[in-house]
Amino acid sequence: MSRSKLNIISVVGARPNFMKIAPFVRELSRFPDIFTHTLVHTGQHYDVAMSDSFFKELSIPAPDVSLEIGSGTHAEQVGKTMIAFEKVIQARKPDWVIVVGDVNATCACSITTKKEHIRLAHIESGLRSFDLDMPEEINRMVTDRLSDLLFTTDAMADANLLKEGVPADRIKRVGNIMIDSLEAQRAPAAALNLPTLCTAFALPGAHHPAPPLKDNRFCVITLHRPSNVDDLNVLAPLVSFLTDEVAPVIPLIWPVHPRTRKKLESSGLWELLQKAPGIILTQPLGYHEMLRLSMGAKVMLTDSGGLQEECCIWGTPCLTLRWNTERPITLREHGGVSVLVGNDIERIRAEFREAAALPRAPHQPPLWDGHTAERIVACFKELK
Ligand code: UD1
Repeated sequence: MSRSKLNIISVVGARPNFMKIAPFVRELSRFPDIFTHTLVHTGQHYDVAMSDSFFKELSIPAPDVSLEIGSGTHAEQVGKTMIAFEKVIQARKPDWVIVVGDVNATCACSITTKKEHIRLAHIESGLRSFDLDMPEEINRMVTDRLSDLLFTTDAMADANLLKEGVPADRIKRVGNIMIDSLEAQRAPAAALNLPTLCTAFALPGAHHPAPPLKDNRFCVITLHRPSNVDDLNVLAPLVSFLTDEVAPVIPLIWPVHPRTRKKLESSGLWELLQKAPGIILTQPLGYHEMLRLSMGAKVMLTDSGGLQEECCIWGTPCLTLRWNTERPITLREHGGVSVLVGNDIERIRAEFREAAALPRAPHQPPLWDGHTAERIVACFKELK
């Protein structure tokens, strides 16, 4: 390995990381004389539908190192990842480690990197929900506190970091790298046929005849946050709202996260959903398929941060099933399409009616232009 090149390790662990790393890896590979690159997959997500399919659709090269950490408690996941990643760092001696997003893999590898005295860069820095009950908020705060270079998506993220005392020269506002993936995959996603997609991914026994699916004539829900799915007092009323008030009016597609499916099955709500006309339960979708649904939906109901951002670009009205967001730029008051509804059914009902009457209003925040990876790699070229 030539020491004259900048030796970079980048890390992915879970589903929302893959669309953030793909553009970075592609851009780095354009400069083989400047960079040596190792891609590490911690294996936090391991199902084909949660991991492998994204490598394929986003043309990410197979990981050079797979840590195969798998599921567990937070301490187990973080601890096992730190132990395994320390060995990778010691063997590969990188100049820089690059982490993305806010999952447990991000936090674990950040801590290990700094304990090994290696420089750390964080892509998607500075996002804050100010809610320490969210594991991701802890991951974001730890990662940003330890990072030497902090790549941000917007001015509000810069302001958060400056308030926390991060020196201004470490903060680089480069835009949203996830939108690089969205723009690169927009055409293949748009080409997908909706009914074929639903038939291909629908769960056995859970595909109810619905009117032929057409753009703007269906809604989508995704749920995976512990605060929404772990407590039946929250999940059951939400399910009733969907079966009794949404699906009778407009077909509802629900790609079910493994965590959510476990809870629905163990509580008996699964059978109820399977029987509900107008609800199409599917396995977790691939990247193109999820883009296809988010670009065509009449209304998106979600607790995912990434979907809030994608809906912003498509202009799809989005009910964010949380009380706060680390992505305020996606909210209507900042020009976006999303509104916070928490898990209060009254509020969800009122906002759902309002959202269903709204026209599609695409919004592209500054630098969410598909060229973020170029700006990030340019920073590393300057360091060389
Ligand atoms: C993680 C991230 C979250 C992100 C989400 C996207 C953290 C703290 N949370 O949450 O920020 O929005 O990914 O999905 O890092 N499971 C499988 N197959 C898999 C992976 C998980 O069946 O490939 C099941 C396991 O039962 C596991 C559970 O899902 O225990 C939760 O997985 P985990 O990685 O702990 O967190 P997510 O809820 O997916």
